[in-house]
Amino acid sequence: MALRGLVRAHGGEHGEAGGTLDHPRAYELVAGLGFLGRRREVFLRLAALAGVRPGARILDVGCGTGYLTRILAPVVDGEGEVVGLDPSEPMIDYARRRAPANCTYVVAGGRDTGLPDASFDVVVSSLAVHHMPVNDRAPAFAEMFRVLRPGGRLLIAEFRPPSNRLTAALTGHMTGPAMRHDPKDLLGTLIPDAGFKVDDEGDLPVLLSYVRAHKPAR
Ligand SMILES: C[S@@+](CC[C@H](N)C(=O)[O-])C[C@H]1O[C@@H](n2cnc3c(N)ncnc32)[C@H](O)[C@@H]1O
Repeated sequence: MALRGLVRAHGGEHGEAGGTLDHPRAYELVAGLGFLGRRREVFLRLAALAGVRPGARILDVGCGTGYLTRILAPVVDGEGEVVGLDPSEPMIDYARRRAPANCTYVVAGGRDTGLPDASFDVVVSSLAVHHMPVNDRAPAFAEMFRVLRPGGRLLIAEFRPPSNRLTAALTGHMTGPAMRHDPKDLLGTLIPDAGFKVDDEGDLPVLLSYVRAHKPAR
């Protein structure tokens, strides 16, 4: 099943209005295929890029089925905690049923998490910004900034369409309009505009780009 068939668009086709994913099992299947069997390897690399340490408190914005939260859970250890947040109840239900002891989940969108100020050491988000309504993206980054402690780190990973035009057109057809972006255009100045200092950016295998940043210490 193509990814566009899994998205519940907020009005019209998934684009500016954003959309949630409400079919966790199908998403897991599509994600496994989409990463060509390398999903775990890629997400382990994301966890390493996040620089997570034992005892840390991590927030995963747009956590979906909680795949990355379950990779981060053993890294933060029993003293740390991973909180996954997603507006889709079916995705959060799926994550909760598989939750390690140090993972909790919240049903909420990225622009209004209801979480306390400066309560996380690291905020991560993978493949979620392009699902947010366009008008919610700047408020969502402001919210990530608010809940991160001074000196805390941000890692955003986004879909990077293939550079080959034919493969890009095919991927765009399968995924729908929200994934035809260039990750640089998608993220634009959202990260620095929210107050973060960008540290570096790069590509990961199988069509991901990432940006790392931090919240300046006071
Ligand atoms: C492609 S999935 C990625 C899930 C997970 N992060 C991963 O990498 O497997 C995108 C997720 O973003 C969620 N989402 C949609 N709108 C959102 C919003 N406004 N704020 C946060 N997450 C949102 C969707 O419900 C979906 O679970």
